[in-house]
Amino acid sequence: MEHIKKYIQEHKDRFVEELIDLLKIPSISADPTYKHDVYACAESVKEHLIKAGANKVEICSTKGYPIVYGEKIIDPQLPTVLVYGHYDVQPADPLELWESGPFDPVIKTTDIHPNGAIFARGACDDKGQMFMHVKAFELMMRTNSLSCNIKFMIEGEEEVGSDNLGDFVKSNKSRLECDAILISDTGIIANDTPSITTGLKGLSYVEVELTGPNRDLHSGLYGGAVANPINILCEMIASMKDENNHITIPGFYDKVVELSSQERADMARAPFSLEQYKMALDINDVHGEEGYTTMERTGIRPTLDVNGIWGGYTGEGAKTVIASKAFAKISMRLVPNQTDEEITKLFEDHFKAIAPKSVKVEVHPHHGGKPYVAPTDSPAYLSASAAMESTFGKKPVPIKSGGSIPIVALFEKELGVKSILMGFGLDSDAIHSPNEHFGLFNYFKGIETIPHFFSKFRELNQ
Ligand code: BES
Ligand code: MN
Ligand code: MN
Repeated sequence: MEHIKKYIQEHKDRFVEELIDLLKIPSISADPTYKHDVYACAESVKEHLIKAGANKVEICSTKGYPIVYGEKIIDPQLPTVLVYGHYDVQPADPLELWESGPFDPVIKTTDIHPNGAIFARGACDDKGQMFMHVKAFELMMRTNSLSCNIKFMIEGEEEVGSDNLGDFVKSNKSRLECDAILISDTGIIANDTPSITTGLKGLSYVEVELTGPNRDLHSGLYGGAVANPINILCEMIASMKDENNHITIPGFYDKVVELSSQERADMARAPFSLEQYKMALDINDVHGEEGYTTMERTGIRPTLDVNGIWGGYTGEGAKTVIASKAFAKISMRLVPNQTDEEITKLFEDHFKAIAPKSVKVEVHPHHGGKPYVAPTDSPAYLSASAAMESTFGKKPVPIKSGGSIPIVALFEKELGVKSILMGFGLDSDAIHSPNEHFGLFNYFKGIETIPHFFSKFRELNQ
Protein backbone atom coordinates (compact mmCIF):
# COMPACT_ATOMS: atom_id res chain seq x y z
CA MET A 1 0.00 0.00 0.00
CA GLU A 2 2.93 2.31 -0.67
CA HIS A 3 0.85 4.28 -3.18
CA ILE A 4 -1.26 5.63 -0.32
CA LYS A 5 1.65 7.17 1.58
CA LYS A 6 3.19 8.45 -1.64
CA TYR A 7 0.00 10.19 -2.78
CA ILE A 8 -0.55 11.78 0.64
CA GLN A 9 3.08 12.96 0.72
CA GLU A 10 2.74 14.58 -2.69
CA HIS A 11 -0.57 16.27 -1.99
CA LYS A 12 -0.53 16.99 1.72
CA ASP A 13 -0.17 20.77 1.45
CA ARG A 14 -3.15 21.00 -0.87
CA PHE A 15 -5.16 18.67 1.39
CA VAL A 16 -4.61 21.14 4.23
CA GLU A 17 -5.31 24.23 2.09
CA GLU A 18 -8.57 22.78 0.83
CA LEU A 19 -9.73 21.94 4.34
CA ILE A 20 -8.81 25.42 5.50
CA ASP A 21 -10.96 26.92 2.73
CA LEU A 22 -13.88 24.76 3.79
CA LEU A 23 -13.42 25.80 7.42
CA LYS A 24 -13.63 29.46 6.44
CA ILE A 25 -17.32 29.02 5.64
CA PRO A 26 -19.35 29.64 8.83
CA SER A 27 -21.92 26.90 8.20
CA ILE A 28 -23.70 27.22 11.54
CA SER A 29 -26.98 25.35 11.17
CA ALA A 30 -28.46 26.60 14.45
CA ASP A 31 -28.34 30.29 13.56
CA PRO A 32 -30.44 31.54 10.59
CA THR A 33 -28.02 34.48 10.17
CA TYR A 34 -25.66 32.02 8.49
CA LYS A 35 -28.20 30.53 6.12
CA HIS A 36 -26.28 31.55 2.99
CA ASP A 37 -23.05 30.15 4.38
CA VAL A 38 -24.65 26.80 5.11
CA TYR A 39 -25.85 26.62 1.49
CA ALA A 40 -22.45 27.80 0.23
CA CYS A 41 -20.80 25.05 2.22
CA ALA A 42 -23.05 22.41 0.62
CA GLU A 43 -22.05 23.84 -2.76
CA SER A 44 -18.38 23.56 -1.87
CA VAL A 45 -18.73 19.93 -0.73
CA LYS A 46 -20.48 19.19 -4.02
CA GLU A 47 -17.62 20.74 -6.05
CA HIS A 48 -15.05 18.74 -4.09
CA LEU A 49 -16.91 15.48 -4.71
CA ILE A 50 -17.12 16.21 -8.42
CA LYS A 51 -13.43 17.09 -8.63
CA ALA A 52 -12.49 13.94 -6.75
CA GLY A 53 -14.35 11.88 -9.36
CA ALA A 54 -17.81 11.18 -7.99
CA ASN A 55 -20.81 10.71 -10.28
CA LYS A 56 -24.44 11.79 -9.85
CA VAL A 57 -23.37 14.49 -7.44
CA GLU A 58 -26.41 16.39 -6.33
CA ILE A 59 -27.49 18.90 -3.76
CA CYS A 60 -30.69 17.34 -2.50
CA SER A 61 -32.96 19.92 -0.99
CA THR A 62 -34.99 19.15 2.11
CA LYS A 63 -37.35 21.21 4.24
CA GLY A 64 -34.20 22.38 5.97
CA TYR A 65 -30.60 22.43 4.80
CA PRO A 66 -29.64 20.24 1.84
CA ILE A 67 -27.94 16.88 1.77
CA VAL A 68 -25.02 16.46 -0.61
CA TYR A 69 -25.09 13.12 -2.40
CA GLY A 70 -22.54 11.59 -4.75
CA GLU A 71 -21.41 8.12 -5.75
CA LYS A 72 -18.93 6.05 -7.69
CA ILE A 73 -20.24 2.66 -8.70
CA ILE A 74 -17.38 0.67 -10.18
CA ASP A 75 -19.13 -2.70 -10.31
CA PRO A 76 -22.59 -3.53 -8.97
CA GLN A 77 -21.26 -6.95 -7.90
CA LEU A 78 -18.83 -5.37 -5.48
CA PRO A 79 -19.71 -4.28 -1.94
CA THR A 80 -20.91 -0.72 -1.43
CA VAL A 81 -19.82 1.61 1.36
CA LEU A 82 -22.01 4.59 2.26
CA VAL A 83 -20.02 7.43 3.82
CA TYR A 84 -22.00 9.72 6.11
CA GLY A 85 -20.76 13.00 7.54
CA HIS A 86 -21.95 16.55 8.24
CA TYR A 87 -20.85 19.90 6.88
CA ASP A 88 -22.73 22.01 9.43
CA VAL A 89 -21.03 23.19 12.60
CA GLN A 90 -21.94 24.36 16.09
CA PRO A 91 -22.21 28.07 16.88
CA ALA A 92 -18.82 29.54 17.77
CA ASP A 93 -19.72 31.47 20.90
CA PRO A 94 -18.41 32.47 23.38
CA LEU A 95 -16.27 34.30 20.82
CA GLU A 96 -14.07 36.08 23.34
CA LEU A 97 -12.60 32.75 24.44
CA TRP A 98 -11.17 31.95 20.99
CA GLU A 99 -7.47 32.68 20.57
CA SER A 100 -7.98 33.09 16.82
CA GLY A 101 -11.12 33.61 14.78
CA PRO A 102 -13.36 30.51 14.67
CA PHE A 103 -13.65 30.89 10.88
CA ASP A 104 -10.13 32.11 10.35
CA PRO A 105 -8.27 28.78 10.52
CA VAL A 106 -4.70 28.77 11.81
CA ILE A 107 -2.22 25.95 12.35
CA LYS A 108 -0.57 25.82 15.76
CA THR A 109 1.27 23.14 17.70
CA THR A 110 0.10 21.93 21.10
CA ASP A 111 1.49 19.45 23.66
CA ILE A 112 -0.83 16.79 22.29
CA HIS A 113 -0.33 17.81 18.64
CA PRO A 114 3.42 18.49 18.26
CA ASN A 115 3.03 18.29 14.45
CA GLY A 116 0.38 20.97 14.43
CA ALA A 117 -3.39 21.20 14.53
CA ILE A 118 -5.86 23.29 12.55
CA PHE A 119 -7.84 25.58 14.85
CA ALA A 120 -11.33 26.46 13.62
CA ARG A 121 -14.97 25.68 14.38
CA GLY A 122 -15.75 22.38 12.66
CA ALA A 123 -12.07 21.40 12.26
CA CYS A 124 -12.75 18.10 14.01
CA ASP A 125 -16.58 18.05 14.20
CA ASP A 126 -17.08 17.25 11.42
CA LYS A 127 -15.61 19.07 8.43
CA GLY A 128 -12.07 17.81 8.97
CA GLN A 129 -13.21 14.25 9.50
CA MET A 130 -15.76 14.30 6.69
CA PHE A 131 -13.18 15.80 4.32
CA MET A 132 -10.73 12.96 5.07
CA HIS A 133 -13.18 10.74 3.20
CA VAL A 134 -13.35 13.08 0.22
CA LYS A 135 -9.55 13.15 0.05
CA ALA A 136 -9.21 9.38 0.56
CA PHE A 137 -11.72 8.94 -2.26
CA GLU A 138 -9.69 11.27 -4.48
CA LEU A 139 -6.59 9.25 -3.63
CA MET A 140 -8.27 5.96 -4.50
CA MET A 141 -9.59 7.41 -7.77
CA ARG A 142 -6.26 8.91 -8.85
CA THR A 143 -4.26 5.83 -7.94
CA ASN A 144 -6.79 3.50 -9.52
CA SER A 145 -7.31 1.64 -6.30
CA LEU A 146 -10.95 2.15 -5.39
CA SER A 147 -11.95 -1.36 -4.37
CA CYS A 148 -15.64 -0.98 -3.45
CA ASN A 149 -18.53 1.11 -4.67
CA ILE A 150 -18.83 4.28 -2.68
CA LYS A 151 -21.74 6.59 -1.88
CA PHE A 152 -21.54 9.87 -0.03
CA MET A 153 -24.33 11.40 2.04
CA ILE A 154 -23.15 14.60 3.70
CA GLU A 155 -25.82 16.49 5.62
CA GLY A 156 -26.15 20.02 6.95
CA GLU A 157 -28.38 19.59 9.99
CA GLU A 158 -26.57 17.16 12.27
CA GLU A 159 -25.87 19.75 14.93
CA VAL A 160 -29.56 20.66 15.12
CA GLY A 161 -30.95 17.13 15.30
CA SER A 162 -31.00 15.93 11.65
CA ASP A 163 -34.71 16.74 11.44
CA ASN A 164 -35.00 16.19 7.69
CA LEU A 165 -32.51 13.40 7.10
CA GLY A 166 -35.02 10.76 8.22
CA ASP A 167 -37.43 11.67 5.40
CA PHE A 168 -34.57 11.71 2.90
CA VAL A 169 -33.43 8.25 3.97
CA LYS A 170 -36.99 6.87 3.87
CA SER A 171 -37.63 8.17 0.36
CA ASN A 172 -34.19 7.23 -1.04
CA LYS A 173 -33.82 3.70 0.21
CA SER A 174 -32.66 2.17 -3.06
CA ARG A 175 -30.28 5.02 -3.83
CA LEU A 176 -28.72 4.55 -0.38
CA GLU A 177 -28.51 0.75 -0.57
CA CYS A 178 -25.18 -0.36 0.82
CA ASP A 179 -23.33 -3.03 2.76
CA ALA A 180 -21.86 -0.77 5.43
CA ILE A 181 -22.11 2.82 6.56
CA LEU A 182 -18.78 4.39 7.37
CA ILE A 183 -18.70 7.44 9.63
CA SER A 184 -15.84 9.52 10.99
CA ASP A 185 -17.53 11.77 13.53
CA THR A 186 -16.17 10.29 16.76
CA GLY A 187 -12.73 9.97 18.29
CA ILE A 188 -9.84 7.74 19.27
CA ILE A 189 -8.41 7.37 22.78
CA ALA A 190 -5.03 8.89 21.88
CA ASN A 191 -2.78 9.23 18.88
CA ASP A 192 -0.85 6.13 19.97
CA THR A 193 -4.01 4.30 21.07
CA PRO A 194 -6.47 3.80 18.23
CA SER A 195 -10.04 2.86 19.08
CA ILE A 196 -13.35 2.24 17.35
CA THR A 197 -16.58 3.53 18.85
CA THR A 198 -19.06 0.70 19.39
CA GLY A 199 -21.65 2.61 21.34
CA LEU A 200 -23.37 5.98 21.07
CA LYS A 201 -25.83 7.39 23.54
CA GLY A 202 -29.41 8.33 22.81
CA LEU A 203 -30.69 11.75 23.70
CA SER A 204 -33.77 13.24 25.24
CA TYR A 205 -33.68 17.04 25.36
CA VAL A 206 -36.28 19.21 27.01
CA GLU A 207 -36.78 22.84 27.82
CA VAL A 208 -38.74 23.67 30.97
CA GLU A 209 -40.53 26.87 31.84
CA LEU A 210 -41.76 27.77 35.31
CA THR A 211 -44.14 30.64 35.90
CA GLY A 212 -44.72 32.12 39.33
CA PRO A 213 -46.45 35.49 39.75
CA ASN A 214 -47.85 37.18 36.63
CA ARG A 215 -45.12 39.87 36.66
CA ASP A 216 -41.69 40.52 38.12
CA LEU A 217 -42.13 41.63 41.73
CA HIS A 218 -40.26 43.71 44.30
CA SER A 219 -38.31 41.08 46.23
CA GLY A 220 -38.75 42.91 49.51
CA LEU A 221 -42.45 43.52 49.29
CA TYR A 222 -43.25 40.00 48.10
CA GLY A 223 -40.15 37.94 48.97
CA GLY A 224 -40.83 35.04 51.31
CA ALA A 225 -44.54 35.10 50.57
CA VAL A 226 -44.71 34.26 46.87
CA ALA A 227 -43.01 31.39 45.03
CA ASN A 228 -39.79 32.47 43.35
CA PRO A 229 -39.71 30.34 40.17
CA ILE A 230 -35.89 30.44 40.04
CA ASN A 231 -35.58 29.06 43.59
CA ILE A 232 -38.22 26.45 42.85
CA LEU A 233 -36.59 25.43 39.57
CA CYS A 234 -33.25 24.92 41.36
CA GLU A 235 -34.92 22.80 44.04
CA MET A 236 -36.73 20.72 41.44
CA ILE A 237 -33.57 20.14 39.43
CA ALA A 238 -31.54 19.31 42.54
CA SER A 239 -34.14 16.77 43.62
CA MET A 240 -33.73 14.84 40.38
CA LYS A 241 -30.54 13.22 41.71
CA ASP A 242 -30.11 11.53 45.08
CA GLU A 243 -27.04 11.47 47.33
CA ASN A 244 -25.47 8.80 45.10
CA ASN A 245 -26.04 10.85 41.97
CA HIS A 246 -28.66 8.38 40.92
CA ILE A 247 -31.43 9.95 38.84
CA THR A 248 -34.70 9.95 40.81
CA ILE A 249 -37.23 10.08 37.95
CA PRO A 250 -39.45 7.03 38.58
CA GLY A 251 -38.89 4.36 35.95
CA PHE A 252 -35.80 6.06 34.52
CA TYR A 253 -33.56 3.00 34.93
CA ASP A 254 -36.23 0.35 34.30
CA LYS A 255 -34.96 -0.62 30.85
CA VAL A 256 -31.25 -0.01 31.42
CA VAL A 257 -29.28 -3.20 30.90
CA GLU A 258 -26.66 -3.80 33.56
CA LEU A 259 -23.37 -4.99 32.09
CA SER A 260 -21.96 -8.30 33.27
CA SER A 261 -18.81 -8.17 35.35
CA GLN A 262 -16.98 -9.65 32.37
CA GLU A 263 -18.15 -6.82 30.12
CA ARG A 264 -17.16 -4.27 32.74
CA ALA A 265 -13.75 -5.87 33.09
CA ASP A 266 -13.33 -5.73 29.29
CA MET A 267 -14.22 -2.04 29.33
CA ALA A 268 -11.73 -1.36 32.07
CA ARG A 269 -8.93 -2.69 29.85
CA ALA A 270 -9.12 0.40 27.62
CA PRO A 271 -6.28 2.70 28.66
CA PHE A 272 -7.47 5.57 30.85
CA SER A 273 -5.70 7.73 33.39
CA LEU A 274 -7.93 9.42 35.95
CA GLU A 275 -5.05 11.68 36.97
CA GLN A 276 -4.54 12.93 33.41
CA TYR A 277 -8.27 13.31 32.97
CA LYS A 278 -8.54 15.54 36.03
CA MET A 279 -5.46 17.50 35.06
CA ALA A 280 -6.70 18.15 31.53
CA LEU A 281 -9.94 19.59 32.91
CA ASP A 282 -8.34 21.34 35.86
CA ILE A 283 -10.64 19.65 38.37
CA ASN A 284 -9.75 18.27 41.79
CA ASP A 285 -12.16 15.42 41.57
CA VAL A 286 -14.57 13.74 39.21
CA HIS A 287 -18.28 13.58 39.99
CA GLY A 288 -20.89 11.04 39.05
CA GLU A 289 -23.02 8.05 39.80
CA GLU A 290 -21.80 6.05 42.80
CA GLY A 291 -20.49 2.59 41.99
CA TYR A 292 -19.30 3.32 38.45
CA THR A 293 -15.95 4.35 36.99
CA THR A 294 -15.53 7.49 34.90
CA MET A 295 -15.44 5.44 31.69
CA GLU A 296 -18.63 3.64 32.76
CA ARG A 297 -20.35 6.88 33.71
CA THR A 298 -19.76 8.34 30.27
CA GLY A 299 -19.98 5.11 28.27
CA ILE A 300 -22.73 2.91 29.68
CA ARG A 301 -24.76 4.87 32.25
CA PRO A 302 -27.60 7.25 31.41
CA THR A 303 -27.10 10.82 32.63
CA LEU A 304 -29.05 14.03 33.23
CA ASP A 305 -27.53 17.48 32.85
CA VAL A 306 -28.69 21.07 32.83
CA ASN A 307 -27.30 22.70 29.68
CA GLY A 308 -28.54 26.18 30.43
CA ILE A 309 -30.59 27.94 33.09
CA TRP A 310 -31.88 31.47 33.13
CA GLY A 311 -34.37 33.93 34.50
CA GLY A 312 -34.51 37.12 36.53
CA TYR A 313 -31.94 39.86 36.49
CA THR A 314 -28.47 39.06 35.20
CA GLY A 315 -27.30 42.54 34.13
CA GLU A 316 -24.82 44.89 35.82
CA GLY A 317 -25.22 45.60 39.51
CA ALA A 318 -28.08 44.51 41.71
CA LYS A 319 -31.78 44.60 41.00
CA THR A 320 -34.07 43.39 43.76
CA VAL A 321 -36.63 41.33 41.96
CA ILE A 322 -38.59 38.12 42.04
CA ALA A 323 -38.88 37.03 38.44
CA SER A 324 -42.13 35.88 37.01
CA LYS A 325 -40.43 33.10 35.03
CA ALA A 326 -37.48 30.71 35.13
CA PHE A 327 -36.20 28.42 32.38
CA ALA A 328 -33.79 25.54 31.91
CA LYS A 329 -32.59 23.32 29.09
CA ILE A 330 -32.05 19.78 30.26
CA SER A 331 -30.51 16.84 28.41
CA MET A 332 -30.63 13.18 29.26
CA ARG A 333 -28.18 10.82 27.56
CA LEU A 334 -29.66 7.39 27.10
CA VAL A 335 -28.26 3.89 26.90
CA PRO A 336 -29.53 0.82 25.02
CA ASN A 337 -33.20 -0.04 25.47
CA GLN A 338 -34.11 3.41 26.77
CA THR A 339 -36.05 5.36 24.16
CA ASP A 340 -36.21 9.12 23.95
CA GLU A 341 -40.02 9.09 23.70
CA GLU A 342 -40.40 7.08 26.89
CA ILE A 343 -37.79 9.00 28.84
CA THR A 344 -39.15 12.38 27.74
CA LYS A 345 -42.61 11.27 28.95
CA LEU A 346 -41.22 10.03 32.29
CA PHE A 347 -39.38 13.31 32.73
CA GLU A 348 -42.43 15.40 31.91
CA ASP A 349 -44.75 13.49 34.24
CA HIS A 350 -42.24 13.60 37.07
CA PHE A 351 -41.34 17.24 36.59
CA LYS A 352 -44.99 18.23 36.70
CA ALA A 353 -45.64 15.96 39.70
CA ILE A 354 -42.90 17.50 41.84
CA ALA A 355 -43.82 21.11 41.06
CA PRO A 356 -45.51 22.90 43.97
CA LYS A 357 -48.96 24.38 43.34
CA SER A 358 -47.48 27.86 43.56
CA VAL A 359 -45.93 27.64 40.07
CA LYS A 360 -47.14 26.65 36.62
CA VAL A 361 -44.95 24.28 34.63
CA GLU A 362 -44.45 23.75 30.93
CA VAL A 363 -42.19 21.12 29.39
CA HIS A 364 -41.20 21.51 25.75
CA PRO A 365 -39.46 18.48 24.22
CA HIS A 366 -36.72 19.17 21.66
CA HIS A 367 -35.14 16.71 19.23
CA GLY A 368 -34.21 13.31 20.57
CA GLY A 369 -32.48 10.19 19.39
CA LYS A 370 -31.94 6.53 20.05
CA PRO A 371 -28.79 4.95 21.42
CA TYR A 372 -26.69 2.73 19.18
CA VAL A 373 -24.49 -0.32 19.61
CA ALA A 374 -22.18 -1.74 16.95
CA PRO A 375 -21.10 -5.37 16.82
CA THR A 376 -17.37 -6.14 16.95
CA ASP A 377 -17.55 -9.19 14.70
CA SER A 378 -19.04 -7.68 11.53
CA PRO A 379 -17.04 -7.41 8.28
CA ALA A 380 -17.15 -3.62 8.70
CA TYR A 381 -15.73 -3.70 12.21
CA LEU A 382 -13.06 -6.21 11.25
CA SER A 383 -12.13 -4.07 8.23
CA ALA A 384 -11.85 -0.93 10.33
CA SER A 385 -9.85 -2.80 12.93
CA ALA A 386 -7.44 -4.20 10.33
CA ALA A 387 -7.16 -0.82 8.61
CA MET A 388 -6.26 0.97 11.85
CA GLU A 389 -3.90 -1.79 12.83
CA SER A 390 -1.96 -1.37 9.62
CA THR A 391 -1.69 2.42 9.87
CA PHE A 392 -1.26 2.84 13.66
CA GLY A 393 0.70 -0.37 14.14
CA LYS A 394 -1.67 -1.27 16.97
CA LYS A 395 -5.01 -3.05 17.10
CA PRO A 396 -7.75 -0.56 18.01
CA VAL A 397 -9.79 -1.09 21.18
CA PRO A 398 -13.59 -0.91 21.12
CA ILE A 399 -14.97 1.97 23.21
CA LYS A 400 -18.38 3.28 24.17
CA SER A 401 -18.85 7.01 23.76
CA GLY A 402 -21.03 9.39 25.73
CA GLY A 403 -21.80 11.34 22.54
CA SER A 404 -24.81 10.96 20.27
CA ILE A 405 -25.33 10.75 16.53
CA PRO A 406 -29.07 10.10 16.52
CA ILE A 407 -29.26 9.36 12.83
CA VAL A 408 -27.15 6.20 13.20
CA ALA A 409 -30.00 4.27 14.89
CA LEU A 410 -32.32 5.53 12.18
CA PHE A 411 -30.01 4.23 9.42
CA GLU A 412 -30.18 0.82 11.04
CA LYS A 413 -33.97 0.92 11.25
CA GLU A 414 -34.63 2.26 7.74
CA LEU A 415 -31.78 0.79 5.72
CA GLY A 416 -31.14 -2.30 7.82
CA VAL A 417 -27.44 -1.51 7.81
CA LYS A 418 -25.10 -1.04 10.75
CA SER A 419 -22.73 1.90 10.87
CA ILE A 420 -19.05 1.68 11.67
CA LEU A 421 -17.78 4.61 13.72
CA MET A 422 -14.16 5.03 12.69
CA GLY A 423 -13.37 8.49 13.96
CA PHE A 424 -9.98 10.16 14.36
CA GLY A 425 -10.60 13.08 16.73
CA LEU A 426 -9.40 13.37 20.31
CA ASP A 427 -11.57 14.27 23.31
CA SER A 428 -9.16 17.14 23.90
CA ASP A 429 -9.85 18.61 20.43
CA ALA A 430 -12.48 20.85 22.02
CA ILE A 431 -15.43 20.08 19.76
CA HIS A 432 -18.38 22.40 20.50
CA SER A 433 -15.98 24.51 22.62
CA PRO A 434 -13.82 27.56 21.91
CA ASN A 435 -10.54 26.76 20.12
CA GLU A 436 -11.77 23.56 18.48
CA HIS A 437 -8.95 21.94 16.54
CA PHE A 438 -7.98 18.83 14.60
CA GLY A 439 -4.46 17.40 14.56
CA LEU A 440 -2.68 17.22 11.22
CA PHE A 441 -1.45 13.80 12.34
CA ASN A 442 -5.10 12.76 12.77
CA TYR A 443 -6.20 14.28 9.46
CA PHE A 444 -3.50 12.48 7.47
CA LYS A 445 -3.87 9.28 9.49
CA GLY A 446 -7.55 9.27 8.59
CA ILE A 447 -6.86 9.79 4.90
CA GLU A 448 -4.33 6.97 5.05
CA THR A 449 -6.53 4.54 6.98
CA ILE A 450 -9.70 4.88 4.90
CA PRO A 451 -8.30 3.22 1.72
CA HIS A 452 -7.14 0.29 3.88
CA PHE A 453 -10.71 -0.03 5.12
CA PHE A 454 -12.01 -0.22 1.58
CA SER A 455 -9.58 -2.91 0.44
CA LYS A 456 -10.14 -5.00 3.56
CA PHE A 457 -13.91 -4.63 3.26
CA ARG A 458 -13.83 -5.92 -0.29
CA GLU A 459 -11.64 -8.83 0.76
CA LEU A 460 -13.99 -9.81 3.61
CA ASN A 461 -17.06 -9.59 1.39
CA GLN A 462 -15.76 -11.90 -1.31
N1 BES B 1 -19.85 14.28 16.36
C1 BES B 1 -20.71 14.57 17.45
C2 BES B 1 -21.01 13.39 18.34
C3 BES B 1 -19.83 12.66 18.94
C4 BES B 1 -18.62 13.29 19.19
C5 BES B 1 -19.99 11.34 19.26
C6 BES B 1 -17.57 12.59 19.73
C7 BES B 1 -18.95 10.64 19.84
C8 BES B 1 -17.72 11.27 20.06
C9 BES B 1 -22.01 15.17 16.91
O1 BES B 1 -21.77 16.16 15.96
C10 BES B 1 -22.76 15.82 18.04
O2 BES B 1 -22.30 16.83 18.51
N2 BES B 1 -23.90 15.27 18.46
C11 BES B 1 -24.74 15.91 19.42
C12 BES B 1 -26.16 15.48 19.26
C13 BES B 1 -26.94 16.28 18.25
C14 BES B 1 -28.38 15.81 18.24
C15 BES B 1 -26.86 17.75 18.45
C16 BES B 1 -24.32 15.56 20.82
O3 BES B 1 -23.78 14.47 21.07
O4 BES B 1 -24.56 16.39 21.70
MN1 MN C 1 -20.37 15.59 14.59
MN1 MN D 1 -21.26 18.04 17.06
